[in-house]
Amino acid sequence: MTKQAQHLGETVVITGGNTGLGFACAQAILRSPYCAQWHVVLACRDLERGQNAVDALGSRGAGAGQVEVMPLDLASMSSIRAFAKDLATEIDAGARPALHALVCNAGVNPASTKTITEDGFETTFGVNHLGHFLLVNELLPTLQTPGRVVVVASGVHDPAQKSGVPAPAWNDVAALAKGELGPLASSDRALRYGQRRYSTSKLANVYFTYALARRLPSGITANAFDPGFMPGTGLMREAPAPMRFVGKHILPHAIPLLRRVFSPNVHTPAESGAALARLVTDPQFATTTGKYFEEDREVRSSEESYDEDRAAELWNASLALTKQTTRR
Ligand SMILES: NC(=O)c1ccc[n+]([C@@H]2O[C@H](COP(=O)([O-])OP(=O)(O)OC[C@H]3O[C@@H](n4cnc5c(N)ncnc54)[C@H](OP(=O)(O)O)[C@@H]3O)[C@@H](O)[C@H]2O)c1
Repeated sequence: MTKQAQHLGETVVITGGNTGLGFACAQAILRSPYCAQWHVVLACRDLERGQNAVDALGSRGAGAGQVEVMPLDLASMSSIRAFAKDLATEIDAGARPALHALVCNAGVNPASTKTITEDGFETTFGVNHLGHFLLVNELLPTLQTPGRVVVVASGVHDPAQKSGVPAPAWNDVAALAKGELGPLASSDRALRYGQRRYSTSKLANVYFTYALARRLPSGITANAFDPGFMPGTGLMREAPAPMRFVGKHILPHAIPLLRRVFSPNVHTPAESGAALARLVTDPQFATTTGKYFEEDREVRSSEESYDEDRAAELWNASLALTKQTTRR
């Protein structure tokens, strides 16, 4: 018997699984009829918040050993490399089932204040794109077939969606990593510039997904997922106080109204978490790759997101920025 054969089932890693969409996705996977033997790793920057989530999932029916927390800070390349190494070592030692799925869910929307990661990247681009780019590449040797990578993007990457968030302002990748947006943002004030950094990072998520799908070996898929607008998660935690208040206390109670007057693509985290879990686990998506999903529906992403030259440029620049020596 091989070491891995001691375990039935498969491991799925969910970044930022301690709250919001990631937590709801973990819960849906643990309840899914396809996932009776799955082992969920919540990859979290704060172990206490992660353990609280593990306890909450346990109290809602997750069996012992089915869910655990591991430390991962996507704002730190050393933390990302340590996470990938520890996970690979534990799987190799038979302490966990083989890795078959990775959900790149964690994200930040730091509004107006520019902050920098430990490696010197602007935080929105550094966490939302570069952190996940490095994590996926570090975990690829551990990811088994059949395997799935799902990247949580957002409809805000697409100006045609009229989400209210300013459109991405793409720029040279080295400039984006420093937090400098393209000309479209030149007259933005600080708050709008911050929102544009977020939509630009979500466009990077879509380029990354498509470029990844073109490079993955057969049997491993990569798709992007838009959960829609989910009022009440922690994503607005750095927004100005009035926006935070409305986002936390008013909009979550107005979802049916928002669907009618704003967009049908407004959901609770539980609804979007269940849709994300289906993309990760449902056999109907086993061979779907390089696609963009709005909830369960495969739709087209923005026109500019299909620019393959730009996606390749982002891939190569991201390899250099994250100092990966093996060219993929
Ligand atoms: N909410 C929406 O309306 C909406 C719409 C479209 C797309 N999305 C996307 O959905 C995803 C989940 O967002 P959410 O709404 O669930 O927000 P959330 O409640 O704020 O959850 C974000 C998660 O990311 C984690 N995280 C942040 N920085 C991290 C880092 N440096 N390293 C590791 N983990 C980190 C957070 O950890 P902590 O708890 O420790 O902060 C948290 O677990 C994001 O990618 C977001 O862009 C959200």
